[in-house]
Amino acid sequence: MQPDTTPEAGTIRPEAMLSVRGLKKVYQTDGGDIEAVRNLTFDLRAGELACLVGPSGSGKTTLLKCISGLMAPTEGEVLLDGKRVSGPPKKMAVVFQEYGRSLFPWMRVRDNVALPLKNQGVPKAERDRLVDEALEAVGLSHVPRSYPWQLSGGMQQRVAIARAIAYQPEVLLMDEPFAAVDAQTRADLEDLIRTIWKKFGVTVLFVTHDIDESVYLGERVIILSSSPTVVQEDIRIDLPVERDQLETRSLPRFTELRHHVYEQIQLAKKGHRPAAAEPAQAGSAAKPA
Ligand SMILES: Nc1ncnc2c1ncn2[C@@H]1O[C@H](COP(=O)(O)OP(=O)(O)OP(=O)(O)O)[C@@H](O)[C@H]1O
Ligand SMILES: [Mg+2]
Repeated sequence: MQPDTTPEAGTIRPEAMLSVRGLKKVYQTDGGDIEAVRNLTFDLRAGELACLVGPSGSGKTTLLKCISGLMAPTEGEVLLDGKRVSGPPKKMAVVFQEYGRSLFPWMRVRDNVALPLKNQGVPKAERDRLVDEALEAVGLSHVPRSYPWQLSGGMQQRVAIARAIAYQPEVLLMDEPFAAVDAQTRADLEDLIRTIWKKFGVTVLFVTHDIDESVYLGERVIILSSSPTVVQEDIRIDLPVERDQLETRSLPRFTELRHHVYEQIQLAKKGHRPAAAEPAQAGSAAKPA
């Protein structure tokens, strides 16, 4: 059975929490212009968990920087709950791969998690409650007074996740957050993301290099082409909502889906582009493999 490629991929639905419309990003460098992202259009419903995969250099980080308002797109726009993003929005949080650099080593775990709330002027009692809830959610209630450097890599990444959720974002963006941790820790963190997603009902866009991870985690996988980037394919992951590292990964359907995503990435790496992306064939729909 082939994966369900979302027929309406590319169209904007009014109820979208996050809309990326015709996004293009060209970096201007001394060596000339670099077109990192050519034309990306997709949207996420409120409460959706979508994974984004694509070859290295396909513009995944560039896209997240544009979505989070850290960088302006060259063309196109990003809408958060219908409003155009023109700077870092209040209701969006980002977790990057390099937790080591995103936490302040001289601040205790608790203070690291509380910092964005403090900056936002959240009163102390409310702040304490949100920090406690976030530390509890990531299983770190026992180390609030530790410093990040006293913790393992996986625990540090949990602190970064706690900081993001304490902020109560409507949209959580994650850029290869588990790339630097060992396989066992990674599996635990994947389950943590699904748990948090269900508990807080947050909309998640999770960027990963790892095909298995994208299929295991997502309700949907958006596959990017190689640079200059367009959406290669947008597929629905029709696995049961309750996922289990052993059982889900042993399902025949899991194998079919990972096989399909793998094939698409290989095609993307070879420069294959969806028909709809090529102006000469405009009007024809992107075909599933
Ligand atoms: N600040 C910059 N200035 C110039 N070019 C850049 C800059 N940042 C990224 N690029 C280029 O834009 C393209 C996309 O880069 P980006 O880092 O967004 O890709 P990526 O998909 O996140 O890659 P990876 O999988 O390796 O993390 C690449 O060709 C990269 O060299
Ligand atoms: Mg990147």
